[in-house]
Amino acid sequence: MNIVLLGPPGAGKGTQARLLVERRGMVQLSTGDMLRAARKSGTEMGRRVAEVMDKGHLVTDEIVIGLIRERLLQGDLGGGVIFDGFPRTLAQADALMEMLKAEGLRLDHVVEMRVQDDEALVLRVSGRSTCATCGEVYHDVTKPVPADGHCVKCGGTTFTRRGDDNPESMRTRLFAYYKETAPLVGYYHALRLLRTVGGMGEIEEVASEIEAILARPS
Ligand code: AP5
Ligand code: ZN
Repeated sequence: MNIVLLGPPGAGKGTQARLLVERRGMVQLSTGDMLRAARKSGTEMGRRVAEVMDKGHLVTDEIVIGLIRERLLQGDLGGGVIFDGFPRTLAQADALMEMLKAEGLRLDHVVEMRVQDDEALVLRVSGRSTCATCGEVYHDVTKPVPADGHCVKCGGTTFTRRGDDNPESMRTRLFAYYKETAPLVGYYHALRLLRTVGGMGEIEEVASEIEAILARPS
């Protein structure tokens, strides 16, 4: 089963994707994570995207489609793919359909995680930290790092904050979402693939809603 998680920055796409990896053995393909890995590796492409990402703008379609294409060609897609943060433009959405078709795969569900309260999204990303060892995502208020300072998943003790998780970049990211990505809601509705969940519930409530969708025939 292959799904897209669609939603504004801070909607909880990464959090839910990690739960699906744990519980269903699916493979998470996050273009944000791929781009952050490219930045760390210090490649020419990594250097080019770093500034764009920190300001909150979208990286070019060519780069992100290339990353996804490369990964799909590698195969080994476990219990199916969760596309997290991809596609984000209509051109990326068209490219995804073509790439899946070429590999003999299809999209089963597009889960829109709806959060209409921009302030709540800003609060979510402002409180976010990530385990540097395993990538577990925390939040200062809703999912704090345990008092002993050890990651619940791997015991790691280093937690990082993202350069684009500040109010100014967040405004740009939200604008990019409404302008470039929100039209995909209509696109997938027309393809009869759109399913919507409320993104404001507790993490486990949202997970149950998504689980109910995946249990239905597509
Ligand atoms: P990306 O890494 O994809 O970031 P994003 O879309 O802005 O989404 P986030 O990772 O901020 O949020 P999320 O929805 O995953 O929320 P999370 O689960 O972490 O992209 C970063 C940048 O890369 C882009 O700006 C762009 O420059 C570039 N890029 C990436 N893909 C691209 C593409 N396809 N095309 C072009 N450019 C691209 O949760 C957030 C916080 O809230 C956490 O602290 C979490 O613990 C907490 N939380 C989660 N769920 C809940 C809940 N239900 N209740 C309370 N708290 C919760
Ligand atoms: Zn960890």
